[in-house]
Amino acid sequence: MLVTKAIIPAAGLGTRFLPATKAVPKEMIPLLDKPSIQYVVEEGIKSGVKNFILVTGKNKGAIVDHFSMDSDFLARLETKNKAELLGNLSKIPSIAHFMSIRQDEPLGLGHAIWTARHAIGKEYVSIMLPDDIFIGPDPGLSQLIKIAAQEKCSVVAVQEVPKNQVSRYGVIDVKKQFSPNLFQVRDLVEKPSPEDAPSCLAIVGRYVLSPNIFEALESTSVGAIGEVQLTDGIQKLIFSGEKVFAYKVKGERYDVGTPLGLLKASVRLALQNQKYSSAMLDFLSELDREMIVLQGKAAKQRFSSSL
Ligand code: UTP
Repeated sequence: MLVTKAIIPAAGLGTRFLPATKAVPKEMIPLLDKPSIQYVVEEGIKSGVKNFILVTGKNKGAIVDHFSMDSDFLARLETKNKAELLGNLSKIPSIAHFMSIRQDEPLGLGHAIWTARHAIGKEYVSIMLPDDIFIGPDPGLSQLIKIAAQEKCSVVAVQEVPKNQVSRYGVIDVKKQFSPNLFQVRDLVEKPSPEDAPSCLAIVGRYVLSPNIFEALESTSVGAIGEVQLTDGIQKLIFSGEKVFAYKVKGERYDVGTPLGLLKASVRLALQNQKYSSAMLDFLSELDREMIVLQGKAAKQRFSSSL
């Protein structure tokens, strides 16, 4: 099974990152020196994806511009001997093809994926949510593609989350466990309460889905929060008799759709980047010393006020 297309849904409103995202797409907010969506595209390319379908909305034009070949800009950089500053970005338009499709109304992730249906034939397709960044030796998506090819079925990425956080995610109900990391899915539950959650295996932002997902989404109606959920579409695949597997992807995942997640991912990436790691380490040890002093002062205060 060859998976060469990825849909990147990027038409959401990004309310968790307001006010930064009022006019700027959250996918263009930098993580170190690259917009976060570039990490996702690079992961896709490393996983064998050749075609990216960007689902965009209002104020998202910068994403399409970022991945377009701009010969004038390149020529200007070259005359200043600064072309190498583009890094990997200069190669991306010649390795991968980008297409953008507009989702006119943000009617949910499921609707965004369905909007891209005409760009996909009768083939398995990957879906990469740009909020989730995976850091680890193997690209997150490549791990899923391997399993999809081996099992010849749809695969969703999962990670174990603490029980008190399950209500932020779609969670899987396990039908059968094949290995420590591989499961067959019986059902998916969107944002369950901790008491009702069938497991602590949360769906994270990578999927490889059968082409029947589009038909399943077609007949999925807008739910209680006014959105079409992708999990409802996947549930329909299962109920129609298709096998869906879940794979516990290896690697650290950061939700860069929130300020704190972006900050944590930035520190992690800086620590493993030759250019920034030693300055970042110095800064963190400086902060650590300050924290120790502050904690000492607070302890002293607590001690004197208890006398
Ligand atoms: P989120 O649920 O994170 O929504 O969408 P959001 O609007 O991006 O961000 P917040 O929660 O308001 O801060 C998950 C993914 O689905 C895309 C988003 O762009 C994101 O990649 N999405 C969501 C769409 O493309 N269209 C939609 O209508 C909704």
